[in-house]
Amino acid sequence: MSTTNKMWGGRFEKGPASVMEDITPSIDFDKRLAGEDLEGSRAHVRMLAAQGIVSEADRDAILGGLDAIGKEIDGGSFVFKRALEDIHLNIESRLAELIGDAAGRLHTARSRNDQVATDFRLWLRGACSRMDDRLDALQRALLGQAEAHVETIMPGFTHMQPAQPITFAHHCLAYVEMLSRDRGRFADARMRLNESPLGAAALAGTSFPIDREATAKALGFARPMRNSLDAVSARDFALEFLGAASISMTHLSRLAGELVQWTSPGFGFVRLSDAFTTGSSIMPQKRNPDAAELVRGKTGRVLGDFVALAVVVKGLALAYGSDLQEDKERVFDAADTLELSLAAMAGMIADLTVNAEAMRRAAEAGYPTATDLADWLVRVLKMPFRDAHHVAGSIVRQAETLGVGLDKVPLSDMQSVEPRITNDVFAVLTLEASLNSRQSPGGTAPARVREQIAFWRETLQ
Ligand code: ARG
Repeated sequence: MSTTNKMWGGRFEKGPASVMEDITPSIDFDKRLAGEDLEGSRAHVRMLAAQGIVSEADRDAILGGLDAIGKEIDGGSFVFKRALEDIHLNIESRLAELIGDAAGRLHTARSRNDQVATDFRLWLRGACSRMDDRLDALQRALLGQAEAHVETIMPGFTHMQPAQPITFAHHCLAYVEMLSRDRGRFADARMRLNESPLGAAALAGTSFPIDREATAKALGFARPMRNSLDAVSARDFALEFLGAASISMTHLSRLAGELVQWTSPGFGFVRLSDAFTTGSSIMPQKRNPDAAELVRGKTGRVLGDFVALAVVVKGLALAYGSDLQEDKERVFDAADTLELSLAAMAGMIADLTVNAEAMRRAAEAGYPTATDLADWLVRVLKMPFRDAHHVAGSIVRQAETLGVGLDKVPLSDMQSVEPRITNDVFAVLTLEASLNSRQSPGGTAPARVREQIAFWRETLQ
């Protein structure tokens, strides 16, 4: 018996070096495409029969075999063989074992190059939808916290310094916005990748009278791709997915980083539930926000996936090159990582409890109503904002010296800086007053935040 590969070894005298059996196979990871590969083959053989390229009897035999293989794979009895390289050849080879010669007709007018591109696009289509579901769940968790904390005051930060009072609801809703743009990116990616490469064959098309519209339609693609070279060599659809995943991970990473900070006793703003906290093997008192740290850490890995594939594609001459086999692990890894991270974040957010007193204490600590004082000087005393800024700054210095909040600085001290200041100023110096005054559209005033909540309740229906 020949030692050459039975799927393509016709022109070979000898079999591959043993290292080839390690470097060539993709079956260990592309077995994940089995369902999509079967789906693509079904559409292809139906089209071949409809076009009179294969007989109806062969079509039926092939369809029967593909169904049997699907059952074997689902039931775990299918034997994946590394010698058969990839999912495509594994399935075709098993088909031959099951139905004999008719199996050899399935690959008419098709190449693994258009086949794998088709499978991968189908898989990514599903992945975009899964990411969307997970993003939706996290948005809902954040919205739930927002609804509970429309009046919960926390310091809003810039430069990580207390800046102005905001509410926890407002903060949560900022992430809801980011995640909605992530969903938009996955929806865009899905829309653009939803074209059929099938029928491009190896790179140049085929001499058989195939019907690419039919296979595209059967597989739920919007249309066949226009250019056969592009169809087999393009991987920007995978890059786009990785780009969307990378950006989404940066959002999760920021939120995760905040959770790590907020759960640290120095902040104490939130407490993660026991279910989302881990202990230390040496320090009995510890409650570590492991999942948040891991989400933050995994962000690097997804960004790495993007870079890895971008480098693979960069400089790769048209059309197909085996380099492209490197696409799948990167995409699978990013999709798995993002899905897991989204699930962990949704769990942490839904379960956390807020320490409103700690947030309030921190909000009070940083003179966060200094802008309100300056705004009052502008509004009531008609001072230019720059001058008002200076006066308010001097009063903050007084508060600091006295060791009190801005609203506790005696009027006489304020008047020593600006004699026209009156008692009315105190009405704007409390946290609540500051909060309620931020009524501009998109602002943190509870009335505005309630509008955001209503919008998202409606949108996330
Ligand atoms: N296993 C290959 C991949 O993952 C399938 C396409 C192989 N095509 C080829 N001509 N060797 O990309």
